Amino acid sequence: MCVIETSPVIETRRLLLRAPDMQDCSRIAAMANDPAVAGMTLRMPHPYGTGDAEAFVVAVAGQDPARASTFVIEHEDHGLVGVIGMFEDGDPTPETGYWIGRDFWGRGYATEALEGALVWASRRWKRRALVAGHFEDNPASGRVLEKAGFLYTGEVRKNFSQARNAPVRTRRMVWLA
Ligand SMILES: CC(C)(COP(=O)(O)OP(=O)(O)OC[C@H]1O[C@@H](n2cnc3c(N)ncnc32)[C@H](O)[C@@H]1OP(=O)(O)O)[C@@H](O)C(=O)NCCC(=O)NCCS
Repeated sequence: MCVIETSPVIETRRLLLRAPDMQDCSRIAAMANDPAVAGMTLRMPHPYGTGDAEAFVVAVAGQDPARASTFVIEHEDHGLVGVIGMFEDGDPTPETGYWIGRDFWGRGYATEALEGALVWASRRWKRRALVAGHFEDNPASGRVLEKAGFLYTGEVRKNFSQARNAPVRTRRMVWLA
């Protein structure tokens, strides 16, 4: 049976994944207002202000927990370091997306958060598969996905990046539980 958790919390070795709240907005905006972050995602605008973070928190609170889960990634010492989400987007297989603030890159946080999210998605959300895509010029994200067990499907899509205001070639990947 699939028990739908409304505000799930995921704990990993160093990180806690939890629902975002309004108190997170200034920190989210400070880290997200970086073209190196937003420009690697589909939906984040650039520039990214506190109002964008507030709209994000409201949108997450309104998500149907059966179809989407979005978490802030909190480090035990550093506080909020990023965001990760899994959501159905016109396809029953959820897609995952994430970002880490630039000051915290290269410490394994994205991989650790993604691995925790995948365990939760299979055990609690009862998902058998997830998909993801990374822009061709973002090999670091491809590496994160590979480390977490995703494989390349071979498909390359042109997806529109809001921050770049342009379509970007996106390499598609899949993970099976
Ligand atoms: C991509 C991103 C999430 C990685 O976060 P992170 O916490 O630094 O990731 P990790 O430390 O877990 O792993 C990064 C891996 O990428 C590798 N890497 C970094 N830069 C790389 C590059 N230019 N080419 C290839 N690999 C690279 C690192 O060496 C590491 O792999 P390793 O453990 O085998 O050495 C982060 O840079 C980010 O938020 N970028 C902007 C937003 C984004 O890209 N979101 C994902 C959209 S698909």
